Amino acid sequence: MDAVFQRCIFPECAATCAVDETQFVCPRCGGLLDVAYDWSQLSPPKALRDFEAKWNDRANPLNFSGVWRFQELLPFAKPNQVLTIGEGQTILQRADVVGSYAGMQPGRLFLQYEGMNPSGSFKDNGMTAAFTHARMASARRAACASTGNTSASLAVFCSATGLMRAVIFIGSGKISYGKLAQALDHGALTVQIAGDFDDAMQRVQQVARRLGIYLVNSINPFRLEGQKTIMYRVLEGLRWEVPDWIVVPGGNLGNVSAFGKAFSELAELGLIDRLPRLAVINAAGANTFYQLYERYGLRWNQGRWDIKLVDGYYGGLDAERIRAATIASAIEINRPVNLPKALRALERCGGVVREVTDQEILDAKAKVGAGGLGCEPASAASVAGARKLRLEGVIEPGERVVCILTGHQLKDPTATVAYHSTDQKTFNEVLGQRGVRRATFANRAIQVPNDLDEIIKAIEVYS
Ligand code: F0G
Repeated sequence: MDAVFQRCIFPECAATCAVDETQFVCPRCGGLLDVAYDWSQLSPPKALRDFEAKWNDRANPLNFSGVWRFQELLPFAKPNQVLTIGEGQTILQRADVVGSYAGMQPGRLFLQYEGMNPSGSFKDNGMTAAFTHARMASARRAACASTGNTSASLAVFCSATGLMRAVIFIGSGKISYGKLAQALDHGALTVQIAGDFDDAMQRVQQVARRLGIYLVNSINPFRLEGQKTIMYRVLEGLRWEVPDWIVVPGGNLGNVSAFGKAFSELAELGLIDRLPRLAVINAAGANTFYQLYERYGLRWNQGRWDIKLVDGYYGGLDAERIRAATIASAIEINRPVNLPKALRALERCGGVVREVTDQEILDAKAKVGAGGLGCEPASAASVAGARKLRLEGVIEPGERVVCILTGHQLKDPTATVAYHSTDQKTFNEVLGQRGVRRATFANRAIQVPNDLDEIIKAIEVYS
């Protein structure tokens, strides 16, 4: 048996294929694939603390990278095949202002800030891994459908390395300006489809298959190998202690799937002695996972999941012409491609799913900003969700909670400016139509005449 291979996630199928295959669906049943390891033929660490030795060798790009310094836990590539642009230099920050908003005791809420990545979102963790695999497979073009961050990341990796041409599919008018700006500036071939993300996702798979273009969406299991490292860095930030909760926004459900795999493997390798619980937070306007998991009771059930329930649910959405709709455009997704993997992760880690409104998302986002870190709306869903779970009593005030801030504040300035705006028209256009009624934590600009005395008076009054 090979030490590294790809394997169907469904235990009753468990078909395998070689590590350098690029179909990314099970050759036998069409299900999702995992990157699988025979650890007995590999050299995983004896203790997580062993990784600390790499901090002293940051001149080596592989040890500088916040992804590849954990390469023994994603050992699918040889070191000389790895392609890194310095991703994963992110921080875990104790956040008491945000914690108090969420109802937590001081010192118990942490924010894992993935906005610090080169392209400004967590996607770079996965992209470096997918890119490495694409290079192993000698790909010349790479494609994705995106709500904006995957495409920005792909565009950055292509322009930074010059190794591949980026082809990106986006729903017309469905991505924020910060993200569109990145795709254009970094030279990606940008295909705007008259539809939304769910349409673009279907099309990109067809096109990639037809033209033999390498697909970098999170259906690609190598992407998720890279995203596992977000959890390794959380553990590193907590001196290798496992938190009680990881709270993450849910869109295509790649992150939660990757996090579940990361913790399962660490437990299997005896590197952690307990698992955290996982909480996935949907936007209320794009709440498929919440509906299926919490309302209809859909479960992984060791791979014997109720696919008919899922098909019926999607059929209902189509019949009623329901499309995803939320200010958190990054997670404006109704057909998450990683659904079964996410269910598996929740089964393993005792997970829950919640939905939060656009109002709750934007209020939480303003609190995150006031607390010192800037995030985009989708990311703030994690904080809004933690607050909801605390109010419900599911999370205890003394538990240790890590919310993942998936993307940078400047990804979507439109939403932020509208929230803080004094201009009712702007507020209504951007937010009012999404059911946002008030900007509870707005920091409004003050209008003053161009007159020194008036300016000084205003500052004295307001500060
Ligand atoms: N947060 C941000 C900022 C995102 O960009 C995404 C996904 C998510 C959360 C959801 O993560 O899919 O792992 O559940 N953005 C994708 C994109 C879909 O195309 O950029 P997930």
